[in-house]
Amino acid sequence: MRDRLNGLAAIEEALWRELQRATVDRHHAWRTPVLATAGADGQPDARTVVLREVDLDERRLVFYTDARSAKRSQLAERPQAVLVMWSPALGWQLRCSVRCAVHTSGLAASSRWERVRQSPSAQDYLSPLPPGTPLEGAAPDTAAPEEDTVAGEPRQRPVEHVAFAVVEAGVTAVDWLELHRAGHRRARFEGGSGRWLQP
Ligand SMILES: Cc1cc2nc3c(=O)[nH]c(=O)nc-3n(C[C@H](O)[C@H](O)[C@H](O)COP(=O)(O)O)c2cc1C
Repeated sequence: MRDRLNGLAAIEEALWRELQRATVDRHHAWRTPVLATAGADGQPDARTVVLREVDLDERRLVFYTDARSAKRSQLAERPQAVLVMWSPALGWQLRCSVRCAVHTSGLAASSRWERVRQSPSAQDYLSPLPPGTPLEGAAPDTAAPEEDTVAGEPRQRPVEHVAFAVVEAGVTAVDWLELHRAGHRRARFEGGSGRWLQP
């Protein structure tokens, strides 16, 4: 079992370091947090996303989504959300309270799309049908999509023709929980300071 960190400052620094690691380590459990949102009708909703970037200075997390998705409209209505993640290796759960800004145009979207459009995951944002559209009849065709190329080069699509959205989630508070044989610990980090909580 790993050594336990002492002190709130050391824990806060370590959890942000782990969040950064999760964006580059495909096997890190925090790479795929659950994003919980409130629907327009007040109904809770939640789904897995991929953590793409962490901005330490701005305390900001970034993920991508389809601009036509339910989560996008939910965040437009209510930008407050929670990103939840659990790492068995660390024994740590994080609940990050966030305020989300969704970008579908401008440099925030176009600079990321430049990278994404070269990758297989570009297909995720090029479907003619919005996510969640009911499909009629037979099961969907699961054959691998044909390469989206023109004369051997990746097809150039201007950012306004794709359903690519970048979500910047500004972290307003972090609830950290450590499960440990020697006793569980919990802390809340908010507004530049931390405090211990009863787990
Ligand atoms: C491992 C995993 C990673 C996923 N990553 C993303 C992601 O980064 N962005 C995204 O929009 N959906 C992602 N999804 C799909 C969502 O969980 C969800 O099914 C989809 O976005 C529709 O959600 P919504 O209708 O609530 O908007 C992922 C699903 C899994 C299982």
